[in-house]
Amino acid sequence: MATKNVEEIKDQSRSLRGTLASTLQAPNATHFGDEDAQLIKFHGSYQEDDRDLRNKLKAEGKDKAWQFMVRSKIPGGFLTSAQYLAHDNMAGRLSTETLRFTTRQGIQLYGILLGSLKQVIKEINACGLTTIGACGDVVRNTMSVAVPISNPVYDEVQRLAEEISRTFYPKTTAYSEIWLDGEKLPDGKEDVEEPIYGRHYLPRKFKIAIAIPPRNDADILSNDIGLVPHFPNGKVEGYTLFVGGGFGMSHGQTATRPHLAQPLLYVAKEHVIDACIAVITTQRDHGNRADRKLARLKYLVANKGIEWFRNEVKSRLANIGTEAPKEVKFTTVSDLLGWHEQGNGKWFRGVWVPEGRIKDTDEVQYRTAFRKIAEKYRPHLHITANTNVYFSNIDANDKAGIDQILDEHKIPAISGLTQARQTAHACVSLPTCNLGLAESERAFGKVMNGIDAVLRELGLENEEILIRMTGCPNGCARPYNADFAFVGRAPGKYALYVGGSHRGDRLAGLKEKVVLEADIPAKVKEILSDFTANRQTGESFTDYWGRTQEQGEVPNAEHFHVEFAERAARLAAAGN
Ligand code: HEM
Ligand code: SF4
Repeated sequence: MATKNVEEIKDQSRSLRGTLASTLQAPNATHFGDEDAQLIKFHGSYQEDDRDLRNKLKAEGKDKAWQFMVRSKIPGGFLTSAQYLAHDNMAGRLSTETLRFTTRQGIQLYGILLGSLKQVIKEINACGLTTIGACGDVVRNTMSVAVPISNPVYDEVQRLAEEISRTFYPKTTAYSEIWLDGEKLPDGKEDVEEPIYGRHYLPRKFKIAIAIPPRNDADILSNDIGLVPHFPNGKVEGYTLFVGGGFGMSHGQTATRPHLAQPLLYVAKEHVIDACIAVITTQRDHGNRADRKLARLKYLVANKGIEWFRNEVKSRLANIGTEAPKEVKFTTVSDLLGWHEQGNGKWFRGVWVPEGRIKDTDEVQYRTAFRKIAEKYRPHLHITANTNVYFSNIDANDKAGIDQILDEHKIPAISGLTQARQTAHACVSLPTCNLGLAESERAFGKVMNGIDAVLRELGLENEEILIRMTGCPNGCARPYNADFAFVGRAPGKYALYVGGSHRGDRLAGLKEKVVLEADIPAKVKEILSDFTANRQTGESFTDYWGRTQEQGEVPNAEHFHVEFAERAARLAAAGN
């Protein structure tokens, strides 16, 4: 029988059921079949195998070491100590003794066996979070402002992130039936109407994020919808919507490319969810369902044009008034690490978490330190899009105790880190991600040590320079708007992208198709040496690059697929 495509699998899934329940009950089952492996994503899990063991197991004639990654949805990255401890506890009992804060403010648990999957999903729901729609062709985790400043605007924005999250949960009862021992509907009815998504859900995943300028800590322009509140008198009056951001692309496939979201319209705050629904249903009805590589909203907006898209959205908003988008200016995507006052007499502490990985090693014990802080001081936690964390709601008297726990477990002091290191990030890749072409998380520490040495040598340790790495071009660590990015092509080989922005508002372009991992610091040094020699007083690397390079307002596809030098040579030849 021909393999079904994802649209057919969704169509025939009986509201995302497939045969998930029967596989879970089958004795000795270790993994799902191909169709269910697509459906399990909508429930918040990826089916994976331990890639470190693949060759050995194959040589021994054995099956893959099947396992699951489970992703908790955490709107705005905000969770209580009890919720954090529930994840920590599962990491010890049912997973691989590690947790990972993700670049979209969620938490991932790894290495879960099929027999434990239901227990993990159940426990996540029992602590008041969920995994439904954390992956799959639906609205994913809603990102929002992580920095825990206490004032009415920040509180309202967090409430909006939670409301958006609830509004776009898939309505299927399959989730509660399969994982939570929920009741079946009377008469064995299984198909539940999905009022927003419809029978086939969306053509592809869909991401929403909110930021309060000047801080763009949720990196909103990389999302399908970015929201920015306007609060002229200290109260939110409305939101500007940006649409059509998204980063995934494929090496060498010039039809695929990253896009930044563009301004669409402004709407009063009581209609912001209506406006999101209008955008989402436009993508549902007009998005490309024939080719998943071209199915994201960014291609619809780019192909039809922003004017067409705006008219379509407005026509769906019927009597709701909209205005032209308002001006938005960002200064940084960085986090406020260290101690800061919250604004309500309490304090928050931003802690650097390299690559979001919470684990204990001989050198540093993040897992124990965070567990002790959560158990003893019961702070709130706020995961940032740079995979760092804020502990908030802390009394001034408890600051020293928290610092002591961090010190005892050798968590690096902020003062010892370059500014670039504090925001640098790498995706997971090997050994869990099926799509990784090169190492990312496991290689990044060493690469960054080399780059840190360069930064110190050039006196740039306090400069905001955004650096990111991924194991493949899909872009999970948002490489394409970083100042420098290394995008995996093959083991030990990376494409070098340069020229994004530490404000998250410009795309990088392809500097070199292939750079060896060991050569990355030297390549960065070459470019940064030019910067130190030629920068104007106080100029950031982002602004220096913008001033000295011609890359145009809206880069075309070649920007990501053809090296700068080759394009320049071609242009020069054409000019002669
Ligand atoms: C075509 C595009 C993409 C595909 C097929 C894809 C697929 C995957 C897979 C298979 C994983 C699991 C890896 C693991 O944790 O073991 C993953 C992780 C993740 N992806 Fe993607 N992804 C894509 C693009 C993106 C983009 C553009 C973003 C965000 C801008 C993103 C955000 C994430 C996040 C936050 C994780 C969790 C791990 C981390 O923080 O690095 N993904 N993705
Ligand atoms: S960027 Fe590629 S290698 Fe990295 S987690 Fe995403 S899909 Fe995997």
